[in-house]
Amino acid sequence: METRRIAEILKQAQPDETVTIGGWVRTKRELKGFAFMEVNDGSSMANLQVVLDPQVPSYDSLLQQINTGASVVVTGTLVPSPGKGQRIELKATSVTLYGEADPETYPLQKKRHSFEFLRTIAHLRGRTNTLGAVMRVRNACANAIHRFFQERGFLWVHTPIITANDCEGAGELFTVTNLDLKKLPRNEQQGIDFSQDFFGKRAYLTVSGQLEAEIMALAFQNVYTFGPTFRAENSNTSRHLAEFWMVEPEMAFCDLDGDQDLAEAFLKYIFKSVLDSCLEDMEFFNQRIDNTVLETAENIINNEFGRITYTEAIELLEKADRKFEYPVEWGIDLQSEHERYLAEELFKKPLIVTNYPKDIKAFYMRLNDDNKTVAAMDVLAPKIGEIIGGSQREERLNVLEERIKQMGMLPEDLWWYLDLRRFGTVPHAGFGLGFERVVQFMTGMGNIRDVIPFPRTPLSADF
Ligand code: 4AD
Ligand code: MG
Repeated sequence: METRRIAEILKQAQPDETVTIGGWVRTKRELKGFAFMEVNDGSSMANLQVVLDPQVPSYDSLLQQINTGASVVVTGTLVPSPGKGQRIELKATSVTLYGEADPETYPLQKKRHSFEFLRTIAHLRGRTNTLGAVMRVRNACANAIHRFFQERGFLWVHTPIITANDCEGAGELFTVTNLDLKKLPRNEQQGIDFSQDFFGKRAYLTVSGQLEAEIMALAFQNVYTFGPTFRAENSNTSRHLAEFWMVEPEMAFCDLDGDQDLAEAFLKYIFKSVLDSCLEDMEFFNQRIDNTVLETAENIINNEFGRITYTEAIELLEKADRKFEYPVEWGIDLQSEHERYLAEELFKKPLIVTNYPKDIKAFYMRLNDDNKTVAAMDVLAPKIGEIIGGSQREERLNVLEERIKQMGMLPEDLWWYLDLRRFGTVPHAGFGLGFERVVQFMTGMGNIRDVIPFPRTPLSADF
């Protein structure tokens, strides 16, 4: 079935061309002696207007059976459109109806639905304007991410999803088990030690591909991962998912300055790419969701990010003309209210905060000469807060071993990670970008559950 895509037809096709399209009916209107259907095929926000007249075979029965949500393949001739808002329309010569959609039960009738409601029909919500635009922007953003790294000679490495390590050391792990609980009666399920249950060993779903990316960087110099990661944190916020995608570049012979430069160039590149390739969708978000998204994108592309140290951030927060819910003092982990104040109100642009206290950061971050802080960086975005977390890694064997012990972890568990410091160690750095957070930032969508096709959170993972 040779169908053409509606986005391409609306842009390039000329009157008199014969085309075939396939899609889902958004609306149908019957007038005297003819009818209109608006058809959408997901290629863009725009619908193609199809005109039907009684010469179309089975005209009467088609009109009875076609409703909002029905799937059709239409062949016809393009003609200039007399209506406003579109250059051409399709005069149908034949219509095949593949699937009806009962107007009594099809949930997506022509009206505005709340995002909460749409989440309950994740299998159908891709057919709405907003979720359609989100998925196209998400795709464009993923594509830009690969192009950015490929153009710079980074190797895309595939790190495991099942792993024995807790990279962040935060204990937010989902255990993987080969045990079939369905075969065990409930009373025998108690007391099972799931920590030994991946064929007799312990295994978890990865929280980050970083440690494995470090292995690869110490052979290939510049690498990146882009894959799903999992966090068993019981956070029901509009910024947290239990399953999210993360992009993690890792560079050998690189320090914290190089890491910040890469993060800034990277964000600028993906915003510019998405504006170039998805302008229509971005304009839609600007009109319907958040009227600052276009301005924000331009701001990111054209202005330098702010850069301050954690200690300077604390000073700025202490000087702020307001009281925060969570009291500010040197040593605290910055809360979302602090991050948003800094990025949104004070700097009004993305802000990179560096050199956090060692006690609130992961074991692998490089200890600074002050012995109090580590070479960490977080990129904070207006409205979202942290979208990137990264650091220069500890490359000195003895310092790293000491840190691992101090944090109550076992050096034996990380023997391979320590080996990298034994054999040909180099300064290296990297970061992790939360893919959904950046899509959220880009589109202005209020809830992270609406920028991933199938959100997994403590309260929802229906299918
Ligand atoms: O700051 P995080 O925990 O850093 C790491 O995992 C490092 N190992 C990355 C690295 O250096 N290679 O997570 C990185 C980013 C955060 O900045 C945030 O954007 C996102 O991942 N993130 C989440 N996104 C959605 N839901 C969650 N529960 C998230 N937790 C982190
Ligand atoms: Mg972080």
